Amino acid sequence: MLGFIILQIEAIGKPIDSFGGYGYTTIMKIAYLADHAEHVSTVASWIFHEWDYLTPGVTLEQVEAKFQGHLSRDSIPLTLIALADAGQYTGSLVGTASLLVRDLATRTDLSPWLACVYVPPAQRNQGIGTRIVQAIAGVAGRLQVDRLYLFTRDKEPFYVRLGWHAMDKAEYHDQPVVIMVRMTYIADEYIRRMSTSGG
Ligand SMILES: CC(C)(COP(=O)(O)OP(=O)(O)OC[C@H]1O[C@@H](n2cnc3c(N)ncnc32)[C@H](O)[C@@H]1OP(=O)(O)O)[C@@H](O)C(=O)NCCC(=O)NCCS
Repeated sequence: MLGFIILQIEAIGKPIDSFGGYGYTTIMKIAYLADHAEHVSTVASWIFHEWDYLTPGVTLEQVEAKFQGHLSRDSIPLTLIALADAGQYTGSLVGTASLLVRDLATRTDLSPWLACVYVPPAQRNQGIGTRIVQAIAGVAGRLQVDRLYLFTRDKEPFYVRLGWHAMDKAEYHDQPVVIMVRMTYIADEYIRRMSTSGG
């Protein structure tokens, strides 16, 4: 595999820029879960298994029902998915992220939230997470959202590279988390330079 990547993505049917990365070639597109409801159960399973230790008592069926409520393109909550778009894996699900009205129960003053960001282990470090987070910010901007929030236990450096800023600390199920904010009008070029400069 060549040491230079071209990551080609179609953002919601519209091509967006290519950028260099770390030595894989991934062709993917970003889509609304609303247009691929057949992937609801996989998305729900990923999210359930990644974070179920934090929410004992919540069942996979309940998480699946939650994502069934995300089948929207023009209103929040909604979910985006990343799909492989070349070769034998075309159409395979390779990532997801959601835009929620509420997330951290102690901060109902903040809305909306980026949440449920997940790329399967075998697909990580190819820029998929970066692109789906950027796509969520783009969708939020289109929906007239000025400020988008998230909270994270250990991924602050990843989000800082994408134009997010730490704004507060909090606890989530007794674990310390950082609340971050991102203005949705930050230019794509700025984000691109941040994500390729290594921090
Ligand atoms: C966090 C997560 C979504 C990232 O997905 P990913 O597809 O691996 O993300 P990317 O490939 O875009 O970025 C991964 C790393 O490669 C780096 N990278 C990728 N492409 C790059 C590029 N072109 N230039 C510079 N760095 C790049 C990123 O900066 C990042 O570095 P880090 O490990 O220090 O954060 C994934 O690890 C995951 O699903 N983790 C489990 C769930 C989770 O923690 N979700 C976030 C909750 S807040």
